[in-house]
Amino acid sequence: MKIKAKTDVKRRKSEMSKMLLEDLQGVGPATAEKLREAGYNTVEAIAVASPGELVGAAEVGETTAAKIIASAREAADIGGFETGDLVLERRKLVGKITTGSKSFDDLLGGGGMETQCIVELYGEFGCGKTQVAHQMAVNVQLPVEEGGLSGSAIIIDTENTFRPERIGQMVRGLPLREEGEWTSEEFLKNIHVARAYNSNHQILLADSALDLAERLRETDMPVRLLVVDSVTAHFRAEYVGRGTLADRQQKLNKHLHDLMRFGDLNNALILVTNQVMSKPDTFFGDPTKPVGGHVLGHTATFRLYLRKSKGEKRIARLIDSPCLPDGEAVFSVTMEGLRD
Ligand code: GTP
Ligand code: MG
Repeated sequence: MKIKAKTDVKRRKSEMSKMLLEDLQGVGPATAEKLREAGYNTVEAIAVASPGELVGAAEVGETTAAKIIASAREAADIGGFETGDLVLERRKLVGKITTGSKSFDDLLGGGGMETQCIVELYGEFGCGKTQVAHQMAVNVQLPVEEGGLSGSAIIIDTENTFRPERIGQMVRGLPLREEGEWTSEEFLKNIHVARAYNSNHQILLADSALDLAERLRETDMPVRLLVVDSVTAHFRAEYVGRGTLADRQQKLNKHLHDLMRFGDLNNALILVTNQVMSKPDTFFGDPTKPVGGHVLGHTATFRLYLRKSKGEKRIARLIDSPCLPDGEAVFSVTMEGLRD
C-alpha cells in the first residue's frame, strides 16, 4: 500500500514536470508565449497565480484566466488534500544538515537543519546570517555520515554577498577525509548562484530554481538546499509607504509558498535571511521585529534570531517553533567556518 502511494506521488510529479503550458485548457500558442515572457514558465507557477495577475500577463479575460488557473491547479494538484500516509511517506525522507556547531544543531533538535521546511535567520547586519548560509551550502554537500546530504545548493543572492573565497576557507576547514583534503572547486561547482536584481526577478529565480532542481534530481548531487539571502530586502526597498503594504505582503506570501513548495518537491531545506527593522521612522511596526511581519511568521517552520556576542561568538535563539522548546545556542564564526 505504502509502496503504491509512493509511486503515485512520483508519477504525478514527473507527469507534471513534462506538462507544457499549451496543454492547459484555454492556453493557445500565443497565450503560452506571453505567459512565458511574463515569467510563468511552469504549470505550477500558473496554479498559484491569481486571475488578476494572468489577465495582466497574458492579455486574456478574467474568465479565461480563471479557467487556465483551474486547469493548472488540477494538473499540479495544488490546493488539494492528500492522505496522511502520503504525508508520512514524504516526512520519512526528511534529512538533516549540520551547521558545524553541535550546540546550534542541538537547538534545532539535534543533527542540524531539516529538509522540507523553511528556516528563517533574522537579525541585524553583521550578526552572521550570510555566514550561516555559506556554511550550509558547504555542509549540504558532505556525505550523510558527516552531517550532509550529498546534495547541491542553490543560492538566490539579493545583496551580492556570496563570496566563493569564503566557501574556500570553509572547505579548507573541513575535517580530513581518507582521500585527503577536500578542494574548494569540488564544492563550488555544486553551488548554483544567481543574483536577484529586484523582487520580481527574485520570484522568477525561485521558478528557475525549480527547473534547475528538476534537471539535477536524478544526478548524484540533487538539490537539497535553497538559500534566499535576503528574502525581504528587495520587497522592503520597493514597497514603501503604508498603501503598498497589503500588496507587498501578498507578493511575499506567494513567494514564500513557492519556496515551501520547492522544499517539499525536492526534499530540500529552504534557508532564508531577514534583517530586523532598524529605523522605525522609515518602516512600520515594532522596530525590534523582523521584516515581513506575520506572513513570514506563519510560513517559516523555524525562526532563528541571531545576535552578536563577544568576538567571534554568536547567539542563536529559536523563536516560536511548533515542535521544539524555545532556547538559545552559542556558536562561533571562525576563519574555518561555524564552530561551537
Ligand atoms: P547583513 O547581510 O548585513 O544583514 O549581515 P549578516 O547577518 O549577513 O552578516 P554576515 O554573515 O555577513 O557576517 C559578517 C560577520 O561575519 C563579520 O562581521 C565577521 O564578524 C564574520 N566573518 C566574516 N568572515 C569571516 C572570517 O573569514 N573569519 C571570521 N572569524 N569571521 C568572519
Ligand atoms: Mg548578509
